[in-house]
Amino acid sequence: MNPSETNQQCPNRTKFRTFAFYSLSILVLFLAISFSFTKTNYYKVQYLKYTLTTTSSPTLLFRAIGSLFSSPKSILMSSHCVLWMAPFLSGGGYGSEAWSYILALHQHHVKIPSFRLAIEHHGDLESLEFWEGLPRDAKKLAYELFQTQCRMGETVVVCHSEPGAWNPPLFETLPCPPTVYQNFKYVIGRTMFETDRVNPDHVKRCNRMDYVWVPTDFHVSTFVESGVDPSKVVKIVQPIDVKFFDPLKYEPLVVASIAKLVLGSQNIGRKSAFVFLSVFKWEYRKGWDILLESYLREFSKVDGVALYLLTNPYHTDRDFGNKILDFVESSDIEEPDNGWAPIYVIDTHIAQSDLPRLYSAADAFVLPSRGEGWGRPFVEAMSMSLPVIATNWSGPTEYLTDDNSYPLPVDRMSEVLEGPFKGHLWAEPSIHKLRVLMRHVMENPNEAKAKGRKAREDMIRRFSPEIVAEIVREHIQNIIRK
Ligand SMILES: *[C@@H]1O[C@H](CO)[C@@H](O)[C@H](O)[C@H]1NC(C)=O
Repeated sequence: MNPSETNQQCPNRTKFRTFAFYSLSILVLFLAISFSFTKTNYYKVQYLKYTLTTTSSPTLLFRAIGSLFSSPKSILMSSHCVLWMAPFLSGGGYGSEAWSYILALHQHHVKIPSFRLAIEHHGDLESLEFWEGLPRDAKKLAYELFQTQCRMGETVVVCHSEPGAWNPPLFETLPCPPTVYQNFKYVIGRTMFETDRVNPDHVKRCNRMDYVWVPTDFHVSTFVESGVDPSKVVKIVQPIDVKFFDPLKYEPLVVASIAKLVLGSQNIGRKSAFVFLSVFKWEYRKGWDILLESYLREFSKVDGVALYLLTNPYHTDRDFGNKILDFVESSDIEEPDNGWAPIYVIDTHIAQSDLPRLYSAADAFVLPSRGEGWGRPFVEAMSMSLPVIATNWSGPTEYLTDDNSYPLPVDRMSEVLEGPFKGHLWAEPSIHKLRVLMRHVMENPNEAKAKGRKAREDMIRRFSPEIVAEIVREHIQNIIRK
């Protein structure tokens, strides 16, 4: 989700040497991966892929030629195509968002096929681990959709990535759209951002698109205020799999068995602790400093609370225990007479299939982020009927209400101090109010549970896959009809 991370992470990935099309070779890669080739063979495949890219015909041409010879059955289908291009094989924020749309459309659109669906990997490097970890159904669907044959003039392309990846891309990736914009029926950019504005280059790239889809009203205003043509900006919310994230389906994960105690001591001989859970990448934007300070100043050992952090590195090492101790030592937070309230870190990989069980083990979810695009963990927690404390700014304002959560007030706006978006503004959530809210949630469990139930109702009503699939289908149908 964070554009600045693109292209810099996983060591296990390849660099594309060319901007030519390579769908055919991607298929070869898929096959290679699914037959569990060894590492050596993996590099051979890369070589093969490189060779194919430089010699094979362009994907869409390949697809177009294919469609001339396709079986009579497909004539019954619509000739229109939606080619969804996203980091499907990367496992980042945009990738998982794209999967959620594709699965929603596939499951809920088949009865009314006003267009056919095709996918293409674009926008970030592939991760072998991610592909291997995908459920069998998703892999099967990926094969199927990679083979959909489309004609350029009848294709609506969705470029689902950060604008820097759009044609012409600022880094090595298959460009989106794959040739000039005018070759396609329409080209849509799907993107978002976590600060108060969009930089001028991204604005230019957005205005080259026929439409720009953003997930929230927050983005509609920040994009328009930054100079994106208002007639192009369309809000399309993000789906959440409410059947998968269903609290009735799971037994809580035994978190004590996978979490490391990094501060304080275990609550022994007490009734079980009130568990606050937070899920985030270890970066300043996520406000982990605000969370730790609020929690440690508000609670002590005798309060019977515990804070569990599921985190992973973001351009850092994995030694979160020491980062937390360093933070506490360099702050002026004093250890309470009764001892620290405990903090646990979960830094092992939690399989997607275990994620609902982790939420199930918590009493409340808390993350005082400075800025979010959409905020997947909030929505997942809400779908799991957890009371959520989240900063009342940026993307999450799309779904946080006083009835379904605890929106955390903002003290002031502050400047982004590092990275390519230096000078943009984001929010500084209130430490004082976060302390009050955490205490309040813990002391009013019935109210908190009622908010959690309302949260799930709202997620089902607004963001369940069939609802969002219908929103997408309607927009695309209107575009095709034009
Ligand atoms: C959250 O922000 C909205 C404006 O975006 C405001 O109307 C609302 O009162 C705020 N809620 C809280 C609890 O601060």
